[in-house]
Amino acid sequence: MLHLKKILVIYYTQTGQAKKAVDSVLKPLENNPEYSIHYELIKPKSALPYPWKYSEFFDVFPENVHGIPFELEPLTVDSDTNFDLVIIGYQPWFLSICRPINSFLLSTAAAKLLNGKPVITIINCRNMWLGAQEKMKERLMDLKAKLAGNIVFADRSSNLTSLVTVLAFELKGIKQNYMGMFPRYGVADSDLDAAPRLGKLIETALNQNNFDKLQELIVANDFVTVKPNLLLMEGRGRALFPLYANYVSKKGTAKSEERKGRVKTFGIVLPTAILILSPIITIVSRLAPLIAYGKMKKQIQYYQQNELKQN
Ligand SMILES: Cc1cc2nc3c(=O)[nH]c(=O)nc-3n(C[C@H](O)[C@H](O)[C@H](O)COP(=O)(O)O)c2cc1C
Repeated sequence: MLHLKKILVIYYTQTGQAKKAVDSVLKPLENNPEYSIHYELIKPKSALPYPWKYSEFFDVFPENVHGIPFELEPLTVDSDTNFDLVIIGYQPWFLSICRPINSFLLSTAAAKLLNGKPVITIINCRNMWLGAQEKMKERLMDLKAKLAGNIVFADRSSNLTSLVTVLAFELKGIKQNYMGMFPRYGVADSDLDAAPRLGKLIETALNQNNFDKLQELIVANDFVTVKPNLLLMEGRGRALFPLYANYVSKKGTAKSEERKGRVKTFGIVLPTAILILSPIITIVSRLAPLIAYGKMKKQIQYYQQNELKQN
């Protein structure tokens, strides 16, 4: 008798990008009677804004970086269901897991649903996801889940271009043709069109109940690109963000008047730092392979795989 494979898709999305990415990957499994797919949209109890006001956008930074959960609406799925595979569609926020998905990962429902399960993450982002995925590895380890695959959809523009287009997208809700000259923000259609082939790989792994080769195949299909300049840039941010998050939190709680000044400063300093550092780091990253080829290659390979570095 055919064993129906049960797949749980946990996702959060503000503008639908995460769902688009998940749908394109799962296309080959969708409408196939061998699979039952349950889609669970994570909903924060207090809805988050979109587009964001400038002050709202930067005010979520400290709690997001500190990984502090907030309340979610109850799930529609029965948390005692035994799934064969869990897929998590998420976005990095300030180099950490976005707060709605992080809140889910820290919930008792997640402890039941993910325990012992293979998990595939589908990230959609501007271009910086390494730190968020390291935290994801930690969370999944705590939940005794096995990270079996990671697929990344990123904006394909240069770092400086997408700095402008992501801010227009998040703060004004403008996705294309910003100021009549900027390219469309977001995940490329060509990546969405190519993604069903990853669904085929997932299907094979699921049917054989063996995910050992999946990540290598995702990498071979160019769906976990790690760029040296972004790796270096993100490394700076990951070192500094917790310090600045502490500095803001010390002044007051989320949305409080007391910390508005420090939030505002961060909102100016962050884009300015990216603007100044981006060209410098791009030059350094071009030289780095000449000076430390082995080290850079090792780091890239590390972020393309699913084990967590033990420090
Ligand atoms: C508060 C906030 C912080 C963000 N921080 C990052 C980040 O650290 N790295 C990144 O690549 N993208 C970042 N982004 C961009 C989102 O990842 C991007 O907007 C996402 O693709 C939107 O997907 P959605 O429409 O499914 O919500 C951030 C977005 C928000 C709202």
